[in-house]
Amino acid sequence: MIVKVPASTSNLGPGFDCLGIALKLYNRINFEKSDRLLITGCDARYCGADNLAFAGYRAAMKARGLTAEGVRIDFRETCIPVSRGLGSSAALISAGAFAANELHGLHLSREELLSVCTRIEGHPDNLAPMIYGGFTAAAMDGEEAICASYPLSPALRFLAVIPDTPLSTAKARQALPETVSRADAVFQLSRTALLIDALGRGDMELLGHAIKDRLHQPYRLPLIPGAEKVFALAEKLGGGRACACISGAGSTLLLISDSDAVIRACSKAVLENFPAWKALTLEPDTEGITLPLSD
Ligand code: HSE
Repeated sequence: MIVKVPASTSNLGPGFDCLGIALKLYNRINFEKSDRLLITGCDARYCGADNLAFAGYRAAMKARGLTAEGVRIDFRETCIPVSRGLGSSAALISAGAFAANELHGLHLSREELLSVCTRIEGHPDNLAPMIYGGFTAAAMDGEEAICASYPLSPALRFLAVIPDTPLSTAKARQALPETVSRADAVFQLSRTALLIDALGRGDMELLGHAIKDRLHQPYRLPLIPGAEKVFALAEKLGGGRACACISGAGSTLLLISDSDAVIRACSKAVLENFPAWKALTLEPDTEGITLPLSD
């Protein structure tokens, strides 16, 4: 059974560990019931029992008190780049959990699957848009994940600027301070609320204010060589109609604009400055994970 799972961009500036948008860039992974674990189609390093797709598969079974001895997993198509801030690990975990749910008739709801997967991933911001599609906010309440979906203006365009070097989420999280000042907490809260409205209405002026962040980006930008330059290009070429943030924990940078011409100009300038990088214009995915057998 082939599971198709979208990439996602998360945080969106101030919405750290909370906001995310599913994107039309997919992994397709085939799962077949088996007594033994057999993983094909990926680097030998990832073919062991610690494979995240198998972790998701096992976790969904465990949620129903069942044990997974094995499964055949074949990575048919993996377009989501690894360790680039586009949700590659969440995509594997959720694909595995959805496959187990379907193959073993577990009848776990999307909400339950989000909780199961978040217990592995640690935060729900990439998983929620992958599971529900579109633009989501998600939080954990103890062991349970809570998710809400929001409108996203069709006028907005998204450019994923993908460096040629990865950044591990663990390293990007270690760079963050444990505590923040009240002033910074208020800065984040107010902008996160405004951001949801700005993205819903495609209000670029409001977005320019709301996408600012003090919680993680100031500490992560130095870990992504060239990131400051890309932010500066977005400001210069956008003329108020483009803004930038780090996608997830990085290294990808996300540019948002309401103008195709601005997105094209930014993409061209990025590739001129960083010929080994990629610049992908990605539309939001509205469906989330799809399985051939889903009802
Ligand atoms: N919200 C997470 C972070 C995304 O920024 O660390 C990466 O998984």
